[in-house]
Amino acid sequence: MKYKSIQVSRHGGPEVLQVVEKDLRPPAAGEVRIKVLAAAVSRPDVTVRRGEALYSGTPLGQKLPFVPGYAVIGNVDAVGDGVREAVVGERVGALTVTGGYTEVLYWRSDRLIPVPAELDPVKAVPLILNYIVAYQVMHRSAKVKPGGTALIIGASGGIGTALLQLGQLAGLKMYALASKDKHDTLTQYGATPIDYRTQDFVEFIHQREPYGLDAVFDGMTGLNYIRGGLSLLKHGGRLVSYGEPAGFLVLFRVLWTLMMVNFLPNEKSFSLYGTSFYFLGDKQPFLDDWAALFHLLEEGKIKPIIARTFPILDAAQANVLLESGQVTGNIVLVAPELLSSATGSCS
Ligand SMILES: NC(=O)c1ccc[n+]([C@@H]2O[C@H](COP(=O)([O-])OP(=O)(O)OC[C@H]3O[C@@H](n4cnc5c(N)ncnc54)[C@H](OP(=O)(O)O)[C@@H]3O)[C@@H](O)[C@H]2O)c1
Repeated sequence: MKYKSIQVSRHGGPEVLQVVEKDLRPPAAGEVRIKVLAAAVSRPDVTVRRGEALYSGTPLGQKLPFVPGYAVIGNVDAVGDGVREAVVGERVGALTVTGGYTEVLYWRSDRLIPVPAELDPVKAVPLILNYIVAYQVMHRSAKVKPGGTALIIGASGGIGTALLQLGQLAGLKMYALASKDKHDTLTQYGATPIDYRTQDFVEFIHQREPYGLDAVFDGMTGLNYIRGGLSLLKHGGRLVSYGEPAGFLVLFRVLWTLMMVNFLPNEKSFSLYGTSFYFLGDKQPFLDDWAALFHLLEEGKIKPIIARTFPILDAAQANVLLESGQVTGNIVLVAPELLSSATGSCS
């Protein structure tokens, strides 16, 4: 028996995403085999494919060939020896970082995320990456309170739209940066939209919030946005950058700014956020937050925007769409049996 994955054998545009066939094998000890139902298509998939991720070209970079795909949801269809965390038929998720564009995933059983079986996998898969980033940035890093004020930079993207939904739920007064043609989505969640191409966001917000903002959520991690965002914070306010810096020079400058802000007496704070803490540190806060997010989805309190779905093997087309800049929200790859539930549209 065989299954198919989407592989990158050389860095480049979406055309380097090629279908490859592999032999189906039993899972190894401590491993489960997952029949993938839904896989997220996200911005880090693009940077790693293009060889533009921060660590590309260093010993820590992703080795070629590889299967992209940061997050999946599926059903366990076989378990290896010694697996106690899951049984055949169970619905699970995985924060794969790479490996998600595949019909079948082999994955360590101690890194499984429990997913309620009744949830639509297409709607639930954005929670594995985009929503966990938004939730933790908002509630663990910035610790927002109802009535607080916040700016979202990169508000129309996968994480930005998650921040908008969670911010509305948390009772925040929000300002949000996006291209003009995506402003309807921002206002739908109660945010005041700002067109970063034509408006000076610092001046715009300063006029309306003379006492400053409680939080800035920054998906760009560029120095101009960081400096502008910091200038808008009130005493006690926090800026959290979660975007991938465009190279080591930017990272160095960002880290320098972080040190200056946090160690000088200015009553403001600046932190960086990364899901790498899931792999390096305590997993429990992540598992708690995924459970909270699945509960919010079950209750209908969050509704991820699914801009488009594609069959798993059409991942190249999905990546063309993501790179076109036309997407508001999330793109999801789906198993053939779920294709009829395809939803959404692009701006
Ligand atoms: N820290 C982590 O663990 C983690 C995890 C996942 C992703 N990330 C990173 O987080 C960032 C955002 O990810 P995402 O999935 O939300 O990306 P996305 O879905 O591609 O959205 C990015 C948004 O940025 C906006 N944008 C582009 N250029 C801009 C500019 N100059 N100023 C303001 N906005 C601009 C675009 O909006 P318009 O179309 O409105 O211009 C786009 O909607 C990426 O750098 C990604 O690599 C980090």
